[in-house]
Amino acid sequence: MIQTIRGFRDILPKDTALWQHIEKTASELFENFGFQEIRIPIMEKTELFARSIGEATDIVEKEMYTFPDRKGDKLTLRPEATASVVRSYIQHKMHTSDPVQKLYTIGPMFRRERPQKGRYRQFYQINAEVFGIAAPYIDAQLILILNELFRRLGLSDLKAHVNSLGCPACRPDFQKALLEFLSDKKDELCENCIRRMDKNPLRTLDCKVPKCREALKDAPSTLGHLCSECEEHFGTVQRALKQQNVEFVVDKTLVRGLDYYSRTTFEILTTALGAQSAVAGGGRYDALIKELDGPEMPGIGFAIGLDRLAEIVEQLEKKYTAMPPDLFIIPLGDRATEYGYLWSSALSIAGVKTEMDFSGRSLKSLMKRADKLNAGHVLIAGDKEIDENALVLRDMATREQHDISMDNPVEQIVAILRK
Ligand code: HAM
Repeated sequence: MIQTIRGFRDILPKDTALWQHIEKTASELFENFGFQEIRIPIMEKTELFARSIGEATDIVEKEMYTFPDRKGDKLTLRPEATASVVRSYIQHKMHTSDPVQKLYTIGPMFRRERPQKGRYRQFYQINAEVFGIAAPYIDAQLILILNELFRRLGLSDLKAHVNSLGCPACRPDFQKALLEFLSDKKDELCENCIRRMDKNPLRTLDCKVPKCREALKDAPSTLGHLCSECEEHFGTVQRALKQQNVEFVVDKTLVRGLDYYSRTTFEILTTALGAQSAVAGGGRYDALIKELDGPEMPGIGFAIGLDRLAEIVEQLEKKYTAMPPDLFIIPLGDRATEYGYLWSSALSIAGVKTEMDFSGRSLKSLMKRADKLNAGHVLIAGDKEIDENALVLRDMATREQHDISMDNPVEQIVAILRK
């Protein structure tokens, strides 16, 4: 038997009602805040991710699914959506119609991480990006949107962690202080950190190796080295969050795993998923659009891990299941089966959710199946009922019965079910 690849999985019909509910709640909320949907390809040139996420990140160094296509071009299954949305903004010169663009997209991402609960190699993100707004209010608003989405989904135990990573003006000062600190600790760091130290010292602060975490616990933080503009920006973000009663903690260790960030970064953490505590993450990337050969334009966004979010919402009491059929047609006999087939198609087209059974089994066993499907009504159509021009429509909850004549059964059923 052929099975899925390790770290890849099916989202089965029993779970899709919940996924659709989350996606619908998110897209309705985004649209209220002026976002429009964008759909981007699943595969891009490798260079796009290497240049944006950063050569020295875990994602680019060891997690991407990269391969040459038949002509030898290096392609990568997208590990995230931001780079592609930025590419699209630049490629289609969206800024010329309006520099401000608010875009969201939902879909699968691919990272070759070690699979465990809440961590998959194909996983889904709900991603939102805002281009062209430098004001700190939009940073606060994105965190507010996440907060509101989780509230609408019935979640309360999530916590926003926020930090500021500074900008090109204050970053060199911080990097200098960090490098000095790292040089003293070199003996205690893993090989990866030592290798990355010169290329991108900030990455060492994101290292998961316990001995590095211990060695770096008193490392200098970006917050201690912000320039006055970054201070003011971060201050406004926090003030706006407080005014809107969004709970958050300032977390100076939050450096994120992608290189493109500047100023505000944030993550939403949960205790409900064991080791995989981040349900969403994001931040500002004011230099990225220019770096990818676009106009000088600020950007900020976030991505929610849909698999993780679904796993937390599933733990709540409220269950999401597909709507049961409005009507189950029970045909008894060949003629009835043919009529039943025609009626079931016409009823589905007319908007009545209709199922029918083609197995030719007995009335008793088909009534059992109707019960199992939780059908609202059944239509009993035996050859006898057809000859006598009196089909029986039964309400499964009240047991009330209606005679339906053969003249225009579809219209009669629609009228009764719509009452
Ligand atoms: P990220 O922090 O790498 O950010 O991913 C965002 C979220 O995706 C995580 O918080 C987590 O919930 C989910 N996620 C990541 N990896 C996995 C995995 N292997 N299995 C299941 N869920 C996972 C980004 O991707 C940025 N593009 C976010 C962003 C958008 N920043 C600005 N705009």
